[in-house]
Order: sequence, then structure tokens, then C-alpha cells
Amino acid sequence: MSAQYIIGIDIGTSGCKSVLMDAEGTVRDSSLQEYPLLTPRPGWAEQHPAQWWKAVQTGLRQLLQKTGVSGNAIKGVGLSGQMHGLVALDKDGQVLRPAILWNDQRTMSQCQHIHEVVGGIPRLLELTNNQMLPGYTGGKILWLREQEPELYERTRVFLNPKDYIRYCLTGELATEVSDASGTGLFDVRQRHWSRQLLNLLDIPKERLPQCFESPQITGEITEIASEATGLPVGLPVVGGGGDAVIQTTGMGLVKSGILGTVIGTAGNVAMGLSQFHSNADGRLQIFCNNSPGTWHVMGVTLAAGGSYRWFRDALCEAEKEKAAQSGQDVYQILEEIAATAPAGSRGLIFLPYLIGERCPYPDPNARGALIGLGLHHGRAEITRAILEGVVFSLRDVFELMSTMGSSVAEIRTSGGGSVSPLWRQIQADVFQCPVTTVSGSREGAAYGAALVAGTGVGIWPSVEEALKVLRIETETAPNPRNRELYEDFYRIYRGLYGALKSSFDALVQSQG
Ligand code: XUL
Repeated sequence: MSAQYIIGIDIGTSGCKSVLMDAEGTVRDSSLQEYPLLTPRPGWAEQHPAQWWKAVQTGLRQLLQKTGVSGNAIKGVGLSGQMHGLVALDKDGQVLRPAILWNDQRTMSQCQHIHEVVGGIPRLLELTNNQMLPGYTGGKILWLREQEPELYERTRVFLNPKDYIRYCLTGELATEVSDASGTGLFDVRQRHWSRQLLNLLDIPKERLPQCFESPQITGEITEIASEATGLPVGLPVVGGGGDAVIQTTGMGLVKSGILGTVIGTAGNVAMGLSQFHSNADGRLQIFCNNSPGTWHVMGVTLAAGGSYRWFRDALCEAEKEKAAQSGQDVYQILEEIAATAPAGSRGLIFLPYLIGERCPYPDPNARGALIGLGLHHGRAEITRAILEGVVFSLRDVFELMSTMGSSVAEIRTSGGGSVSPLWRQIQADVFQCPVTTVSGSREGAAYGAALVAGTGVGIWPSVEEALKVLRIETETAPNPRNRELYEDFYRIYRGLYGALKSSFDALVQSQG
């Protein structure tokens, strides 16, 4: 049989990644196109959907050109994207305003209003199995109705980011269960829009797209999209998944057993669930998973790789220059510096709440901090403290998840942060558990999207079968000598948010 290929596209926060995978699950090539993040006000985060679409077109053209694979050898496309974003389209399919993103914190009062209208968080959990966290799409729809009523009236449909790209590729207005779960308007147990909630909030169901299971085919490449991207007309596009969910699917986390961590812009701690679980106090996110009949639990810390990137951009001009001159990756240079500091960064702790926090503290006012700074600290300790603080924050999420009765024998990690051996070692030491990476983890959510697409077009009979292509690529054992030290440091870390909470609030209020 002639070779078959599948494409996965991920609309990330810092860029769009496209991968070309063969039917053995091997990535033949990938392409990354970056775009800017707009912060028009403190706590706001927006992007222009037109830039996503441009990045998709350039990325696909590059990928097809580099690999020389012919259009008819490609069997399908899978989409992934940053979750919870709001794209408003008018009746002609025109974008009405910049998309409001998952890490935007403007909707606190709308979320409170939703909890009140519904009759409290426990009642909302009955309807959707999730709280309405600031960042979720539901609060943003209400914000638009209150603050930009004219645009709200002109909106024909609200889409998540990857579903806007689906519209550009196929002309179809559709979503799938994992991203729909992250709107906060979805009945996660029954896997359909919550009519009851939509009625209570007075959001017409017609303004939301039709919802599919992740591997289902939702449309085909149109002639216009074919001209723009080089993909053949009629190529099927499957549902795909929200990035935080489909990335862990691509790590093999469809059913219970293994803990997944992802260090991307955000950091996720996640597990697959073979059955539906009720979300006790709503601090975790329990969503539909990409394999029909399975679910997914996760908690998200908002600035993981984002903290490291901020540090690089705000404070590491010299390293950036050195990288530009030597052709080395700037993160590799930073890692070499961090590795010269001992575990615990000589008594320095970093809190990664640079854009507020979601889990375990749903608090838009939380802010970053370096605690314990002394004259004996230099670049090495600060860099290492950032890596450690992000892992403490992942551990915070895990501690919450362990109340669901899960024990962990292996942590699988992916995302940009998983490429760093030092960061993997810090995870292994803080969790005192082996940390592995599997094939494809470098490609993140786009890899999961390609596997789900391959399932949808019949290369594999189920998502579980598709996951058999995964191979363990790295394994990092915990260093028992660091166990006690990191336990002590984690205990101190845990006390810091509570101790600083009123100062965070006062600082935010002082800025109006
Ligand atoms: C998941 C979440 C993030 C975004 C950005 O709930 O908010 O992972 O999807 O990637």
C-alpha cells in the first residue's frame, strides 16, 4: 500500500505548529509560525484570528514544500488549539473583534454573576461539572453583551480558536466535545450543550456551533482553502480537540493510570478518566476526552513556560545576544547557568503567578514573586528558582488531584519545558517519581491532533489503538538525595500564596 499521511495543526498562544505524520505515528516534519500576543490592558490577552489563519497557511505550505508529500497521500487533518478563547463572527463570517484568550482575566464579575444566576457553584457543577472560571468562554460572552452590546448583537456565532480555523478550512461552523467542555456551557456528563444553562443565561443555542466527538469528520477542505494552503480539495477535517486535552491524549493519557504534566505557556497536570467523575468543589477541570466515552481531569497553572519566557525577554538580554551570536538556543544557555545552582536555589523560591492564577487558586489578582532574595543570589539561583517554582505549582495541582484517589507511578511530560533535562530532573525530584517523555511529545498538541485525525479517517480503529504507536523516549529517575530538601521547600512554597494574598489584592487595587 502506498504511504499515508495525516496533518495535525495546533493554534497555540505563541504560534501555530503544523506536523506531518505517517501511519506509523512518526513525525516526518513540522513547521512553527509565531504571532504576537496583545495585552491592551493589564490582565487582558487578545490575538487577531487573521494572524492564526495566516500562520496556518504559511505553515502548511512550508510543510508540504519541505516534505514533498503529494496532496493525495494525505488522508486527513486534525485541529487543536488554545482553549476557552472567544472568536465572534458576524453573519458573513467576518471576525468582529480581536479574540479574547484563555489567559485573559477580565471576566471575574461576569463569572460571579453566572454563579449567582444559576443558584450557586454546586448547582452549576450539576449542570456542567465545572465552575465558570475567569478565562472560560461563557464569561466572555456575557462580557461582550455588557461591554460591547452592538458587537454582541451582530454576532452570528461564537467559536473557539481552532474552530475558527476549521471555518476557514471547511466553511463549517463546528466544534468538538473537549473544547466545548472548556466554554463552561457544556454538559460534560451527557456530552452536549447545556440547554438549561444557556436558557438561564439567555444565550441562544443557535449562536454556538454544532458539537461532534473528537475523531468525527466535521467538514472538508474547500476550494478557497485549498488555494490558500496547498491541501487538496475535499480532504476531511476531523473534530480534533482543545490543546490541553489533546496534548495529553497524544501522550497516551486516554484512560486512568498515568499522570501527565505539560509545560507549555501554561502548565497542566492531567489524567485520563475511563469513567465520568463528578467535580467535587470545581477547582479542577473535568472535561470530555478525545476518545468517545472517556473523560479528562486537569488543573492549570497559568504561567509555566510563560514565566520562563517572561524572564528570558525581560531580563536576559545578554544571553539572547550570546545565543544570536553563537547559534545556540537561549534556553540552553539559561539551563547551563541554572545547572550551576544547587537544588533549592540556595534558599530562593519563585511564585509563578505572573498573570493571576487558576489552579489551585482561582485568583486573577495573584502575582509573581521571588521570595528569600539575598546578596548571595545571582543569575544561576534566580534562573533555577524559576524552573523550581513552576514545578512546585504543578505539584500544587497534583495535590488537589490526588484527593480524587489517584496514585502515581509514572509522570509523562510534554510541551516546550519537557525538552530541558534539568527541568525534567526537577520534576522527578519534586514529585519523587520517574518522569518519561514519549515520541511526539516535542510536537505537543499538534501530534495528538494528528493521531485523532488518523483515527477519524480510518488509519486506526480507535484512539486507544492509535496510541500504540507511542514509544518511551527519555526516562529520568528521581534523585533520592533531593527528596527531603524539596519536601521542605514545597511546604514553604505552599504557605506563601496565603501569606501574600492581601498584598497581591492591595497592589492590584492600587493600580485602579
Ligand atoms: C486549558 C488552558 C490552557 C490553554 C492554552 O484549560 O487554559 O492550556 O488551552 O494552551
